[in-house]
Amino acid sequence: MRQGPGPKAGGGGGRGGAAGGGAAAGCSGLPAPSFSVLTALSSGTRQGYAGSLSHDLSDGHKPAWHHVAVTADRKPIRVIAHRGASEDAPEHSLAAYRKAIEDGADGLECDVRLTADGHLVCVHDRRVNRTSNGRGAVSAMELAQLAELDFGSWKAPADRAETPDSADPERTTVLTLERLLRLVADAGRPVDLAIETKHPTRWAGQVEERLVRLLDHHPLPGEVRIMSFSARSLRRVHLAAPGVPTVFLMQFLLPRHRSGRLPPGNGIAGPGIRILRRDPEYVARAHRAGHEVHVWTVDDEPDVELCAQLGVDAVITNRPRTVRDQLARLG
Ligand code: G3P
Ligand code: CA
Repeated sequence: MRQGPGPKAGGGGGRGGAAGGGAAAGCSGLPAPSFSVLTALSSGTRQGYAGSLSHDLSDGHKPAWHHVAVTADRKPIRVIAHRGASEDAPEHSLAAYRKAIEDGADGLECDVRLTADGHLVCVHDRRVNRTSNGRGAVSAMELAQLAELDFGSWKAPADRAETPDSADPERTTVLTLERLLRLVADAGRPVDLAIETKHPTRWAGQVEERLVRLLDHHPLPGEVRIMSFSARSLRRVHLAAPGVPTVFLMQFLLPRHRSGRLPPGNGIAGPGIRILRRDPEYVARAHRAGHEVHVWTVDDEPDVELCAQLGVDAVITNRPRTVRDQLARLG
C-alpha cells in the first residue's frame, strides 16, 4: 500500500522564500477537525429560486432573454477571481490574489494539489512545467523543491518586460493554501474562497482530509466553498465536513444533470460558460431545483451580459475589476 504524503522531519517549509512560509507547521500534526467553524460557514447557500425565463427568437438573430418571475431577494452577482486577478499577475500567485482583493472581487478561486510531503499548494496543472521554470508532478515534489522554482516570470507584464520578475517573490513563489487563507483572513472585509480539488491525483482522498483540517484551523469571515469536477471528491468533503457548501463543476451537461439536479449533497452548480451559451435555460432549471449557479470562466463582455440576463449567482473570472465594472453598468 502506498504511503500517504506527510511532512518529513525538518523539511517542507521551504527556504524562507516560500509564499507559504510557515506552512509546514500548519500542515503537520494537526488535531482532528471539529468542523464547528466549517458548519458555521455553510449558511451562505441561497435556495428557493422561483425564476424562469422565456425565450424569444423574434429578432431572428440571437435569443433575447426575459426574466419572467424572479424572487424578490435576488442578490447581486458575485465576482470571483479565477486563480486571482490572473489576467494581470501570474495565476495562483500571492500578487494575483492581492490584486483581486484590491479590485473588489467578492471571492477568490484557487486550485489545490497535495505535495509529496503533505502541503496543499495552489497549482492548476498536474505538472509544474507550464507555470514554472521546473519540471515534474506536484504530487511527487516536496514544498521545499517547489519553493525553489520561479512560478511567475513566464508572465512578465508588458510594461515590465525588461524587469526581472524574480525581484518580486509575491509574483514568483509557489503559494500554499495556508498562506492564501491568511491573506483572505487579513483582507479587511469578508472575501469568499472557492477552493477546487484537482483529480485524479496519487494522493486521492488525502487531499480532502488535509483540506478540511486546514480550513477548520483557519476560520474566515467570508464563505468557503469546495468545488470539484469529481463527485467522489465532493462526497468525501460531505462526509468529513457536512456543513461545507460544495460546487459540482461541469464541463459538459450530462443527461442526468440536465434537469438542474446535482449529485446528492451539492448545493451549487458550477457549469462552464459554454454550457450556458448552448443551453441558457439551464440556469432556471438549476434554480428551480434549489441550486445556486456559479459559472466559469466568464471573461468576455457578451458572456458577462448573458450571465447577468440569466441571473446566475456568481461568475468566476480572470479579470474581476473589468467584470465588476461591466456588471455595475448593466445594473
Ligand atoms: O472555477 C472552475 C474552473 O476553474 C474550472 O476549470 O481548469 O480553470 O480549473 P479550471
Ligand atoms: Ca479551477
